[in-house]
Amino acid sequence: MLTTRTDEMPRDEPARALRGVPAPRTPATTDVARLRVSAKTVVADGVLALELIAPDGGRLRDWTPGSHIDLVLPDGLTRQYSLCGDRWDCATYRVGVLREPGGRGGSAYVHDELAVGDLVGVGGPRNNFPLVPAEHYLFVAGGIGITPLLPMIAQADALGADWRLLYGGRRRGSMAFLDELARYGDRVLVRPEDEFGLLDLAGFLGEPRPDVRLYCCGPAPLLAAVEGGCAGWPPHALRTERFVAEVRGAPARSTSFEVELARTGVTVTVPPGTSVLDAVGAVGVEVLSSCRQGICGTCESAVLAGRPDHRDSLLDDEERAAGDSMYICVSRASSDRLVLDL
Ligand code: FES
Repeated sequence: MLTTRTDEMPRDEPARALRGVPAPRTPATTDVARLRVSAKTVVADGVLALELIAPDGGRLRDWTPGSHIDLVLPDGLTRQYSLCGDRWDCATYRVGVLREPGGRGGSAYVHDELAVGDLVGVGGPRNNFPLVPAEHYLFVAGGIGITPLLPMIAQADALGADWRLLYGGRRRGSMAFLDELARYGDRVLVRPEDEFGLLDLAGFLGEPRPDVRLYCCGPAPLLAAVEGGCAGWPPHALRTERFVAEVRGAPARSTSFEVELARTGVTVTVPPGTSVLDAVGAVGVEVLSSCRQGICGTCESAVLAGRPDHRDSLLDDEERAAGDSMYICVSRASSDRLVLDL
């Protein structure tokens, strides 16, 4: 495998973490790179690790822990996967792919069709789940939800933070990357359900503490349980990454609105029942999308004027109030007109 390792962290990275400056969200990009599959390895029952390199072996775009890429597969499907490799290896991306029998075909394609040597499109990386600086971290992973947490743990450990991981799964054999986690010793609690039963979240989380940040990724019931367990914690203590969208009520308005595309110089009318993404696509403005549920961040678009009706599962309350960015696959307008930087 072609691997080039940078010999040190970017100079400002540990310093920034210690100064308490939040890790920035990765700005949206619609560029799609062509990368080659350099390795495909079974890492647990139903889970593959896929490694991707540039065809010329060159440097890939930088990323930070919590980032994901959009995989644009040769059959036209686009799926997002968390980067779970070594962020200081600037020539290789690694993602973990769970075979999802009830899925829409993307994971089956990766498992059954995609071969070493194939070219795939890759959008991003983008980060909707950034690791903010803290002295203490609690990580909770369920199943394939371990993937975004692996680079977070590596960074927390490299910075000398105090951290612990609670990692649940159905069976030990279905839990990926246990071998890589073994080096962290008793900081990691591996809790397969067939051996230990349901996760003891209350025991792991303990009492609310202002100096702890919690990161959780996994299936919806686990996220709901952790959110319930953190009810008494300070706002923003818990950050989660979702595989399924939160349930939203009716849109703010039931009538059409206009969207002006500032760079294209076109104005489109978005009727009820049509997404902004589809409406702008109908006039030839293609915005990269993936989940179309407001959970992956791929379609993020900058708002120059107007008030968005945010219907995604990504932005927090402050980001919604700022109103300068929206996910156009699901979010709409509460004002008569929006101006987007498209
Ligand atoms: S396509 Fe995933 S957030 Fe819009």
